Amino acid sequence: MSSPFAGLPVTFVGSFPDPAIQLDPPLPEFAFAGRSNVGKSSLLNALTGQPGLARVSGTPGKTVHLNVFRAPELYLVDLPGYGYARASRTERHRLSRLVDTYLTRRDTLAGVVWLLDIRRDPSEEDLAMQAMMAHSGRPVLVVLTKMDKLNHSEIAPRVRALAAALALHEDQVQPVSSRTGAGIADLGESLLAAARSFT
Ligand code: GTP
Ligand code: MG
Repeated sequence: MSSPFAGLPVTFVGSFPDPAIQLDPPLPEFAFAGRSNVGKSSLLNALTGQPGLARVSGTPGKTVHLNVFRAPELYLVDLPGYGYARASRTERHRLSRLVDTYLTRRDTLAGVVWLLDIRRDPSEEDLAMQAMMAHSGRPVLVVLTKMDKLNHSEIAPRVRALAAALALHEDQVQPVSSRTGAGIADLGESLLAAARSFT
């Protein structure tokens, strides 16, 4: 089973520093949020089946704007990551304002794909992000990335532990691997279903 986005024409729209950017035409938007290096850009590429679409980097902190892709009936928005310790205080502040303003004020935001590394417990910044998203009232799809880094028998216990740490049910967190493609098709279906029900 492949992602429902694979084979669709997905195009890069632009890179924007302004959280109030007007996209034409207006379409439902899905944002990819999570700490730096968690795998946001890789997930976008895996979902669309286009490896070179969003910039993947071994060096964290490269995404500093809203990078927008058209999918074509919705927009996918690659957000800057948080928690990049080596960025300056001013830059971290600017990035967190950009992300927070975008996530809380955006009328066309249909949902957030929130990524956590399956091997790591949620950080303080992760929990702050979760609280902010709960406050904004947007649907959130919680995705646990890099499941290929674990042995098969380690996956279920980590899913349970992370769900518990986030006060969620196990069914509310989806393990995926952008490397092997595991879980990607299901996530793509969830996104399309959410986009269709967004009015
Ligand atoms: P920023 O843009 O800095 O916030 O990072 P990001 O969240 O976009 O992460 P990115 O997709 O650039 O991936 C970071 C690193 O993790 C890269 O070296 C990827 O190759 C690696 N990576 C991403 N997804 C996976 C995965 O599913 N499995 C494995 N093994 N590595 C992954
Ligand atoms: Mg990125």
